Amino acid sequence: MRSFKYFLFVLSIFLFFACDSGDIEEKKYTVNNTGKTVKLTGCIRGLNAWEESEYGIALAGFSDDSYYAVMQRTVTPVDDSGVLNFVLNGVSNSISTVELAVTNNLRRRILSLATIDMTAYGGNTPSDTIYLEVGDIDVTPYGCIQMGIFDKACIQCHGGNGRSAGGLNLMKDLSYGNLVDVASTQKNGYYRVISGDADNSLLWQILNEGGENLLHYNHTEVLSSQFKNNLDETKSFIQNWIKNLAD
Ligand code: HEC
Repeated sequence: MRSFKYFLFVLSIFLFFACDSGDIEEKKYTVNNTGKTVKLTGCIRGLNAWEESEYGIALAGFSDDSYYAVMQRTVTPVDDSGVLNFVLNGVSNSISTVELAVTNNLRRRILSLATIDMTAYGGNTPSDTIYLEVGDIDVTPYGCIQMGIFDKACIQCHGGNGRSAGGLNLMKDLSYGNLVDVASTQKNGYYRVISGDADNSLLWQILNEGGENLLHYNHTEVLSSQFKNNLDETKSFIQNWIKNLAD
């Protein structure tokens, strides 16, 4: 009996304090839970290519120290026009970037296609809607390789600045015709990309160990500075793309 009274006493103290601080707690809770809203706008073509794939196109929030998405929504096709108004709600302050990204089924970032730096919108209070405008883009596997790899790590030598090293132009709309089933101009008997056969494609060989001396320029380190944490995933993405070209 005594201990029951003691229990009630302790309980009442607990309730008293719990209620007392209730307002403040509730406010904090609301703010964290509401978060910010990021709206993706643009014309996104090629989403159908991802049906039944281990990869997908997602609007995803990442925190500084992780390449797994903290939160994500898979972007699904709306209609044939590809025009999108797609929203990610509840983006908390722990999220430092929101990205249109290729992620795998573990929510790991494979390639980033467009990024918003959320720290620029700081603060504890939710701000107005933040827009991620991507324009008219192609998110087929090839389009993703263009935006996520060639545009970031290759065009400075291949097509940008009026330079086409090795006679190879990797700029948007030109890269495919410059690569796929096209003979190498630098290495006799080689093809830049052989549809369906990554192992024998010069592109694949020069990016990997053993390909150091195939050309006058060593490409094995070209991807490692851009894709520190997801180098292997980025490479397998290229490998898959070449393999699937045969389909
Ligand atoms: C710093 C400059 C530089 C960067 C960056 C670069 N390359 Fe190259 N690349 C070269 C040079 C130079 C050659 C020609 C080498 C030679 O003549 O043997 C070349 C040749 C090639 C070739 C062979 C072309 C042929 O016909 O034989 C391929 C394929 C290639 N690069 C792909 C890439 C890809 C893909 C990337 C990005 C992931 C890339 N390169 C990034 C400088 C660069």
